[in-house]
Amino acid sequence: MIILDCDPGLDDAVAIMLLLSAPGIEVAGITTAAGNVELHQTQWNTRGILDRAPRRVPVYAGCPRPLAVPHVHAKHIHGDTGIAGVRFEAVETPLEKEHAVDFLIRTLSSAPERSVTLCFVGPLTNLAVVLVKAPELAQKVERLVLMGGAIGLGNTTPAAEYNIYADPHAARVVFEADFERVVLPLDTTSTVLVDTALAARVAKIGTPGADFLAPLLALPVAHPRFAGKGRPMHDMCAVGYCLWPELFSGRQCNVTIDCSEGPSRGRTIIDYWGNKREPNALVIDQVDIEGFLTRFHDTLAKAAS
Ligand code: BDR
Ligand code: CA
Repeated sequence: MIILDCDPGLDDAVAIMLLLSAPGIEVAGITTAAGNVELHQTQWNTRGILDRAPRRVPVYAGCPRPLAVPHVHAKHIHGDTGIAGVRFEAVETPLEKEHAVDFLIRTLSSAPERSVTLCFVGPLTNLAVVLVKAPELAQKVERLVLMGGAIGLGNTTPAAEYNIYADPHAARVVFEADFERVVLPLDTTSTVLVDTALAARVAKIGTPGADFLAPLLALPVAHPRFAGKGRPMHDMCAVGYCLWPELFSGRQCNVTIDCSEGPSRGRTIIDYWGNKREPNALVIDQVDIEGFLTRFHDTLAKAAS
């Protein structure tokens, strides 16, 4: 069983569609938090995306703000609506009344030990609140797969990647919890680029999900680092790991979170060179990029049949 927590978000939209296109994976629900855009928009966007997905799952809205810092959005990357200007005027997928934190607590409480995979592709606020309220539920988590942090430089500040920068205190709680963590850092997710050729192939699939994603996949990216190469869709890598871990490899490392107020706020201090600190996460540093992008396309295409 898997639960996805997200903050759509352009790349979150791709991640959601990939997860719900994959066969044979039990998705208990999707939870949302404040992140790239405000909470009311992340839950709304999630529901609009699900309207176009091959299957629907329950959607829960979670925390409207980070634990100890003001909310910082990323509309300069994702646009005012969070999905590059896509505005869902109406949505059919309902919003569950239960709070995302309560849903996570209820689901984990009734699950066997180490049976639930959590995939988090936004700030870690909801999970931190769960762990503060019911720390014993860490035992129910098989593993947490998260997109966040950076071995090297950040994308929100020179030191910090967005998901960790946005709620560093939540990240610290989560990295101290007693379960397995798999980290898809910015350095690695930035190597998996979606280009216009792949977008064109997705456009030919002809399902509502693919028709929705294709123009998003074809969007040009402003940063000169990616000019002419394609766009990173960071969050889809975390879902990709959940589906096909054999395409990824990494190192067991110690990861600590800088919660200071200074220029290093939100930095993931990753002991990549193994300075005798106890590892607490598998940090992914290699992806079979071609294999992953092929499976991404084929999964969307097969969801059509
Ligand atoms: C992460 O930050 C967000 O803006 C994206 O959705 C992704 O989860 C990349 O740093
Ligand atoms: Ca995200």
